[in-house]
Amino acid sequence: MKYNNLLDAIGNTPLVQLNFKSEARIFAKLEYLNPGGSMKDRSALYMIEEAERLGILKPGGTIIDASSGNHGVAVAMIGKIKGYKVIICVFEKCSNEKLQTIKSYGAQVIVCPNTSLISDPKGYHSVALELHKNTPNSFMPNQYFNITNAIGHEMSMGPEIWKQTEGTVTHFFAAAGTGGTISGVGRYLKKQNPNVKVIAIDSNHSFRATNGNPKPYKIEGIGMDFDTPVLDKDVIDDIVEVSDENGLGMLKTLSAEHGFLVGPSSGAVAWAAYSYISKLKPTDVAVIMFGDSGRAYLSKGFYDYEEVTKAEIVLEKPAIEEIEIHMPAKETQINL
Ligand SMILES: Cc1ncc(COP(=O)(O)O)c(C=O)c1O
Repeated sequence: MKYNNLLDAIGNTPLVQLNFKSEARIFAKLEYLNPGGSMKDRSALYMIEEAERLGILKPGGTIIDASSGNHGVAVAMIGKIKGYKVIICVFEKCSNEKLQTIKSYGAQVIVCPNTSLISDPKGYHSVALELHKNTPNSFMPNQYFNITNAIGHEMSMGPEIWKQTEGTVTHFFAAAGTGGTISGVGRYLKKQNPNVKVIAIDSNHSFRATNGNPKPYKIEGIGMDFDTPVLDKDVIDDIVEVSDENGLGMLKTLSAEHGFLVGPSSGAVAWAAYSYISKLKPTDVAVIMFGDSGRAYLSKGFYDYEEVTKAEIVLEKPAIEEIEIHMPAKETQINL
């Protein structure tokens, strides 16, 4: 594939079969291979270009939003390419890698305390709204409440999965945060074949899963924690609740045994799909979304399979009595 612009390289990610012990075929949609490292490139691009089309986002403007990290990375990358200033509010739980990535694109990052309720005035969403109100010529994609978030996925990932499976897909599994991915892709697939089953993955500690008594959880990006028009409940057939223990526990299996170094939400999705296997028929074709890469979470220690082995060479007697080290002269030039 050859593109004139990085933005044109968003999407068209591979679909790769997983060798889970199942008679049904299970494919992973490798969304971490998008230029910004997640499927959020698709929805962010759609929301930003829709705002440009409507004249809400004008040249010289500032894009401000709240994000669990990946939407922020996507907005920062797209904003840089299109020449906008970008400010992203994240919560403390956001991995340092994602935070540093947003900054690497030249965007400003504001870290807000972790909160259980999206309406908390100290939380990242409220801070972003306030900042947007007080910043002239600013646009807030507002991914948590803007229905074009889901439309972005309906227009891009949905048709790709349908085409890549040649219309044979029977199940789609994805983690739900804003609900944009599961709703958009689910809607597209169900329009093609109403029998396709759409399965959302939620944290077992989310607002929805605990009937309004949310508890903290470590998995980033997922959690049905608020009522939003982005989530299209009509297309969701089933919701699987996953604990931190099960979702994060799956990460080591995926990386060290299957070669997929994926992020925590993908661990939760893989665990949910694995626990669903007994419900699948041999003719079924399940697609599960791997939303981002484990490289964005390495510092969290989720993948520490074994200690790094330090080479220790113990010599009875030094092999060489004296070693002369010749340092290059200061003015030595290294030509790359
Ligand atoms: C890696 C990852 N997976 C899943 C999700 C949830 O996707 P959505 O917000 O479209 O529901 C997110 C959201 O940020 C994410 O970053």
